[in-house]
Amino acid sequence: MAPRRAAACLLPLLMAAAVSAGLGGYFGTKSRYEEVNPHLAEDPLSLGPVAAGARLPAACAPLQLRALLRHGTRYPTAGQIRRLALASSSKHRCLQSSAAFRRGLGPSLSLGGDESEIEVNDALMRFFDHCDKFIAFVEENDTAMHQVNAFKEGPEMRKVLEKVASALCLPVEELNADLVQVAFLTCSYELAIKNVTSPWCSLFSEEDAKVLEYLNDLKQYWKRGYGYDINSRSSCILFQDIFQQLDKAVEESKSSKPISSPLIVQVGHAETLQPLLALMGFFKDDEPLRANNYIRQAHRKFRTGRIVPYAANLVFVLYHCDQVKTSKEEYQVQMLLNEKLMPFHHSNETISTYADFKDYYKDILQNCHFKEVCELPKVNITAIDEL
Ligand SMILES: *[C@@H]1O[C@H](CO)[C@@H](O)[C@H](O)[C@H]1NC(C)=O
Ligand SMILES: *[C@@H]1O[C@H](CO)[C@@H](O)[C@H](O)[C@H]1NC(C)=O
Ligand SMILES: *[C@@H]1O[C@H](CO)[C@@H](O)[C@H](O)[C@H]1NC(C)=O
Ligand SMILES: *[C@@H]1O[C@H](CO)[C@@H](O)[C@H](O)[C@H]1NC(C)=O
Repeated sequence: MAPRRAAACLLPLLMAAAVSAGLGGYFGTKSRYEEVNPHLAEDPLSLGPVAAGARLPAACAPLQLRALLRHGTRYPTAGQIRRLALASSSKHRCLQSSAAFRRGLGPSLSLGGDESEIEVNDALMRFFDHCDKFIAFVEENDTAMHQVNAFKEGPEMRKVLEKVASALCLPVEELNADLVQVAFLTCSYELAIKNVTSPWCSLFSEEDAKVLEYLNDLKQYWKRGYGYDINSRSSCILFQDIFQQLDKAVEESKSSKPISSPLIVQVGHAETLQPLLALMGFFKDDEPLRANNYIRQAHRKFRTGRIVPYAANLVFVLYHCDQVKTSKEEYQVQMLLNEKLMPFHHSNETISTYADFKDYYKDILQNCHFKEVCELPKVNITAIDEL
């Protein structure tokens, strides 16, 4: 089926490789895509065991496929490189991913036309950079990360620091959580990019890796996930756009017009996908992730390595289906995250009528006024003067 083929073709970007160390599952947002689809480690072009489950629904034809992709494996960020003293612009990375994706699609993906829109739409895909309230309240606010900072100083991290210090014959005072995280990321990069187990990996046991994974998840939770409402609310313009395009396709289909955008591919970031998934209510645990509930969160849903590894992809497929019994036409949707069908919240089914899907999210769609959502409260200069 189309989305599977398409995503399988992303693999040249991924340096498909076998999982060599037991640590691979704990790299959070720096995880390799093979961690969520292990069959790809053996055969990068295999469609794997899920392919059968992702068969076209009966009597349905796809009308529109909307794919949101996270760029593939990348080298460390400038900041991390500086800290590691080692060596791409984010935009460049994104364009490369879309070009490779487009090439990979080839002629096999046919949705009634060869026109595909590879969008570089910053306002949509980098909504978090355009939301002043998010920037002030979360991004540039150290206090907002207090759970993350507390975990860095907490007993679990302390144990990891002591072990690493002793392995490196350093006094523990010379290490801190940030440095240890860089060492752990170096191990993840070498595995993801070069398929080698870095000597840095030998510093960490699986237990340590779980602690460092939790640190990464905590940060994503408070910065991009459920930690603060504004994190997910800032993504509502993207959510709205998805529905506008779906609506348009439905209208065109109803009036027997050709579908003007059968395929929409957008390449973004982990920072793009995570808030959108939170807005839709996916991977939400009963309890928030906090510095002091590491043990209780051992089986948490919010594991970013499973949700937004490198090359993560979220695909919406709209179908037009013939209702044989009622001879009524109907529109249905499916969602796939990392090539796996997602059960919808309103039904627990992996397929939904478009009407039910839209109805379930109507409040979010109606209350998405990006400007108001993202506006900083106005400072009343008169009032301040009077203080
Ligand atoms: C990655 O490394 C593993 C273990 O060394 C090896 O079996 C596998 O073939 C390598 N994969 C690639 C794509 O080089
Ligand atoms: C920073 O975050 C804290 C904790 O969430 C919050 O109370 C405070 O208002 C935020 N500061 C700003 C400037 O938004
Ligand atoms: C979906 O399944 C979960 C877990 O079994 C259950 O708690 C929930 O009520 C179900 N939701 C619907 C809409 O059926
Ligand atoms: C600003 O503060 C002053 C004094 O408290 C008040 O009279 C005025 O209505 C406020 N203006 C706005 C726009 O809130």
